[in-house]
Amino acid sequence: MEFVEHVLVLLHLLGMAAIIGSAVFVARGKVTPALVWGARAQLVTGLLLVGVVEAGDEPVNHAKIGVKLLVAVAVAACAEIAAATERKGQGSRPQLVQIAGWLAVLNAAVAVLWTSAS
Ligand code: HEM
Repeated sequence: MEFVEHVLVLLHLLGMAAIIGSAVFVARGKVTPALVWGARAQLVTGLLLVGVVEAGDEPVNHAKIGVKLLVAVAVAACAEIAAATERKGQGSRPQLVQIAGWLAVLNAAVAVLWTSAS
C-alpha cells in the first residue's frame, strides 16, 4: 500500500509539473494537452491519494483537502473552458490559462505550507 501511495504521489507531482510548467513557464497563455491532462490528473490522483492515505490509517487534514479540491476544480474548469473555446474556433483565452497555472501554484503552496495535522 505504501508503494501505491508513493507511485500516486509521483503521478501527482508530474501532473503538477505539467500544469505549472506549461501554463506558467513554457506555453504562457496557450492551451496545451499537458495543461488539460495535468489538471484532470490532479483531480484523479489527488482523490485516489486521499483514499489510499485514509486506508493506511494515516491522518488526513480534511479542511486542507477541501481547499485543494476546490482550487483544483477551478484549475480544471479554467483549462477546459480555454481548450473548448480554442477547439470551437472562438479565439483564445490566455488569461484563463494563466489563472489555471497560478491557481496550481497556490495549490502547491497549500500542499506544502499547511502543516497542521487535522
Ligand atoms: C492543481 C492541483 C494540485 C496541486 C498542484 C497539488 C500539489 C500537491 C503537492 C506538491 C503535494 C506533495 C506535498 C508533500 O509531499 O509535501 C501534494 C500531495 C497531496 N495532495 Fe495534492 N495537489 C493538487 C490537487 C489535489 C487534490 C484535488 C487532492 C484531493 C482532493 C489532493 C490531495 C493530496 C494528498 C492526499 C496528498 C498527499 C500528502 C498530503 O497528505 O498532503 N491534491 N499535492
